[in-house]
Amino acid sequence: MASGTSRDVLGRGLRVLGRAIREQPRIFAVAVTGSVLFGLMVIASAYVVGGVVGKVVVPAIARGSVAGGTLALAAAALFGISVLRVVGIFGRRLGAGYMQYRLQAAYRRRVTRRYLDLPLAWHHRNATGTLLSNANSDVEAAWYPIAPLPFAVGTLVMLVGAVVSLFLTDWALALVGLAVFPALFALNVVYSRRMAPRQARAQRLRAEVSGIAHESFDGALVVKTMGREAQETERFGARAGELRDALIAVGRLRGVFDPMLETLPSLGTLAVLVVGAVRLRQGAITVTELVSVAFLFTVLAFPVRAIGWVLAELPRSVAGWDRVRRVLDATGEMPYGQTTLDPATPAPATLAFHDVHFGYEPAEAHLPGTEVLGEVTFTVPAGRTVALVGPTGAGKSTIASLAVRLVDPRAGTVTLDGVDVRELTAASLASTVALVAQVPFVFDDTVRANIALDRPGIGDEEVWAALRLAEADGFVAALPDGLDTMVGERGTSLSGGQRQRLTLARALAGRPRLLVLDDATSAVDPRVEAAILAGLRAPADRPSSGPERRQAAPASILVVAYRRATIALADEVIYVEHGRVIARGRHTELLAAVPGYADLVTAYEQAEQEREQTRPYEEVTPLTSGLEVEVDR
Ligand SMILES: Nc1ncnc2c1ncn2[C@@H]1O[C@H](COP(=O)(O)OP(=O)(O)OP(=O)(O)O)[C@@H](O)[C@H]1O
Ligand SMILES: [Mg+2]
Repeated sequence: MASGTSRDVLGRGLRVLGRAIREQPRIFAVAVTGSVLFGLMVIASAYVVGGVVGKVVVPAIARGSVAGGTLALAAAALFGISVLRVVGIFGRRLGAGYMQYRLQAAYRRRVTRRYLDLPLAWHHRNATGTLLSNANSDVEAAWYPIAPLPFAVGTLVMLVGAVVSLFLTDWALALVGLAVFPALFALNVVYSRRMAPRQARAQRLRAEVSGIAHESFDGALVVKTMGREAQETERFGARAGELRDALIAVGRLRGVFDPMLETLPSLGTLAVLVVGAVRLRQGAITVTELVSVAFLFTVLAFPVRAIGWVLAELPRSVAGWDRVRRVLDATGEMPYGQTTLDPATPAPATLAFHDVHFGYEPAEAHLPGTEVLGEVTFTVPAGRTVALVGPTGAGKSTIASLAVRLVDPRAGTVTLDGVDVRELTAASLASTVALVAQVPFVFDDTVRANIALDRPGIGDEEVWAALRLAEADGFVAALPDGLDTMVGERGTSLSGGQRQRLTLARALAGRPRLLVLDDATSAVDPRVEAAILAGLRAPADRPSSGPERRQAAPASILVVAYRRATIALADEVIYVEHGRVIARGRHTELLAAVPGYADLVTAYEQAEQEREQTRPYEEVTPLTSGLEVEVDR
């Protein structure tokens, strides 16, 4: 470590500590007061012990008896000092603990709140693992030195007090102190400097070892089916070995420095006895004073270490703080507007794209961002169903994200009922639109919690209604605990199609006025998919013979689709390629007029048929005749 950078770390570390003190000034004051009380009592105890030896022990040995009053006084003094020390330790520990954990909690909250405020574009650039360690271990590391900080501050006061009291006692003994205390301090600093990188390395390896373990367990399926057990064990073993070596390196350093830190004060005591004996003979000091000073040297050694602990934690603290600050200082959140859009009676909303352009931000700022969407203009009229069709990578999911304002366009506008989505309040936007994403996400919680999401006004009745619409009521009713069934991490206890229907029910439970389905039923039987869509369409549109139980809130639907049966249900099809709207119209018109469209739909259909032949669907729900969809062509 170059001295320039370590001085830099010291300066920045002290600034981080300063911030902590400014945030929790009162608790810090309590902790430091406790620590200073302790430090002063340590000095006092040395003098009381010296006094006891000089006034009680020596006379007792010389005369064989001691005055009862002196003995009682000595006992009372020792007891009083012990009580004050205990009070000091209590105040310091309590204050330091409160301060450290309060800061950790506060910054965890700030970091996670920031995650929610930051736009999707920012999340695309940052790995989940990094975000987890920012909110967890980086916040912890930033505030690690807080635990020993009050102790260290109290120790500094104590050292000053000790030097002053030494000078008041005898200048020669004070000189011994001036030699030993700085040496002790310097030894601590060297120790911390050497220790910090070793501990950082051990810390990093610890994280890596658990990371490898996590990945192997997570990818257990791949590891087993691909016969990678031996390689995985090898990979884990190698890193575990590195961690062992790193921890042993920490232990070795401790083995060298700990005895030195123990010995130095003893050498100091020895020097005090040698110098003190001379001074005693010269009549410059008394036995009481000599014993006091010798004792002082032995009791000072331990608190001095607190300063070393703070210094040792500073580099880690600075690194953690830098990573935390990167999140807190990140900008680009999407400010919400003031307009609300909630009509008295729920009616389907109209969605419109006007000449929308969009590009994802490049991974590195200096790279040019390519345009993913250009001149996208279309409308989903109130109560209508519009299908979005296009080859993979055409920009369908991007259009879906823009429609629910996960991202904002570079140019052009997205409007709901004629209002730019950027002008809407967060609550209004959330109650108006719902997106069912391409990759379903299920929380490790009950079926009920996954659907209701703690939103007001969604009781069991609404949950069941949503499940019915999503064609999920059957399998949920068959689950061992019904709505109370835990679905496992990411819904592992459910099939792919069940997961998709659960996330669909979640969107429906909020009674959105615009529903955006991004390939949301791909893992569901095609006939079930058609039934779901038919059930979702506005009542006026619904086939009159449809079963009564499908009473949905009327919604407009934008659906990313590729199955002919699904597409055929739409009032209009928008065909996109390379981020541009190539054609729009009814399914039959596009089939006749757009060659690319016809090819795509036919290819999808063939793939679907092959799939159906090779893999039976996990679950086929019989359909009522009223919902059978006639397929054009
Ligand atoms: N987070 C991202 N960062 C950078 N580029 C992205 C990101 N997401 C998508 N893209 C790019 O944007 C383009 C459109 O992607 P999009 O996901 O909208 O396609 P899609 O039509 O939904 O495809 P699919 O049918 O495979 O789901 C693609 O070229 C893709 O590589
Ligand atoms: Mg997609």
